[in-house]
Amino acid sequence: MAINQKVYNVTSYLPFHPGGEKEMMRGVGRDGTKLFMEFHAWVNPESMLDKCLIGFLVPEPEEEEEEEEWGGGMGVGEGGEGRA
Ligand code: HEM
Repeated sequence: MAINQKVYNVTSYLPFHPGGEKEMMRGVGRDGTKLFMEFHAWVNPESMLDKCLIGFLVPEPEEEEEEEEWGGGMGVGEGGEGRA
């Protein structure tokens, strides 16, 4: 589960979650930041899950940017000389 850009393996904490395993499973395998904050913004996940930290969430590059870099505008059919 990712919380605030940090990815945790929460497996060992699951049985201890005060809100129950089922509740916590809602955020497993994805970015649980929003859910986490919804239920307990006052809980500090960084200190509690320090030993479960396995990595950092990196945002995907925006597809649109890539397309722009490809430099649209091959100008197909544009600016032709016509048939003169
Ligand atoms: C995103 C997934 C999660 C959901 C949907 C969720 C939901 C809940 C719910 C419904 C409760 C019960 C509150 C109550 O009984 O009054 C609870 C309590 C709690 N959860 Fe989670 N939880 C999630 C992830 C986590 C994680 C990852 C941690 C550990 C860092 C955590 C730590 C706690 C603690 C400490 C409490 C007790 C809070 C209190 O009583 O003040 N939860 N949670």
